[in-house]
Amino acid sequence: MEHKIEKINREFQEDIRSVETAEDIEAVRVKYLGRKGEIANFTKELPDLPREEKPIAGRALNALKNHIAKTLKEKNKDVHGIHAEKDYLDVTLDAVTKRIGKIHPLTQIAERINDIFVSLGFKIVEGPEIESEYANFEALNIPLEHPSRDAFDTFYLDDKMLLRSHTSTVQIKVMSHEKPPIQAIMPGRVYRPDAVDASHSFMFHQVEGLMVDKAIKFSDLKGILTIFAKQMFGNDVKLRFRPSFFPFTEPSAEVDLSCIICGQKGCSVCSRTGWLEILGAGMVNPKVFKNVGYDPDKYTGFAFGMGVERIAMLKYGINDIRLFFENDVRFLDQF
Ligand code: DAH
Repeated sequence: MEHKIEKINREFQEDIRSVETAEDIEAVRVKYLGRKGEIANFTKELPDLPREEKPIAGRALNALKNHIAKTLKEKNKDVHGIHAEKDYLDVTLDAVTKRIGKIHPLTQIAERINDIFVSLGFKIVEGPEIESEYANFEALNIPLEHPSRDAFDTFYLDDKMLLRSHTSTVQIKVMSHEKPPIQAIMPGRVYRPDAVDASHSFMFHQVEGLMVDKAIKFSDLKGILTIFAKQMFGNDVKLRFRPSFFPFTEPSAEVDLSCIICGQKGCSVCSRTGWLEILGAGMVNPKVFKNVGYDPDKYTGFAFGMGVERIAMLKYGINDIRLFFENDVRFLDQF
């Protein structure tokens, strides 16, 4: 009898060793613990045993039954564990990757612009987006009835306060607070009530530049902007200064960059002219100096203003300003 229990146990140990799947376990369970299994069969034989052996056999059989049940339970856990691990290692599944963000292309360009000017000795100054009418217009020599005011028209919050339409406002802030020499760039957002299309947005970014001292000349402006253009777009680019008009500078110029798309052969981006307009500039108008309390006989200076979107579009070959603000990661991922 003991011999028989031993045999069942040995057989069970062998069976359980080769078990791999949940089905295998079930088969072993049926074989030993099932209604017609080894344990049940042996139990049926118990009554035929000699009386003194019955309790011993009963206890041994019970112990074996418990042992089998417990082993199966553990094996079950193992099999499911292995199963789960197999799923986990399924190399055909898409990798669970964390998306790492990127710096927005406009920010990248703005930072590049800042770096170039900082390396030339300019400091960075920021001004408020909500400004007085005075700083946005009057102080910059744009009187109420002046037609050029249309170009800089903006969103009014009330009669006197507005969203600045250019960063030239910060020139006024800087000069009202500091005495020359001044060498600063002033980046930031500006607002205009323009209908949105491929080249217009009601909000965009500008960088203003200002250098004021005792003997600042137009050639200083040319030199600084030429270094900027070469660092931004490459050593081969050229600049062209065209006469223009801004109320806050005199003389004023519009500055063109030799077309970096076609190398001045003529393309649709430069309208076959070979030149791309990139910024406005000029010598600070003496009237502006007077408005901030500087003596125009003592000081001269240059100023310039450029659009960050415009620079980014040229640098990256982007043809629609709206792409910067739609936040489509398929677009943003490319920079
Ligand atoms: N404020 C001008 C604009 O928004 C840009 C500009 C032109 C700034 C000439 C200047 C300048 O400082 O000298 O279009």
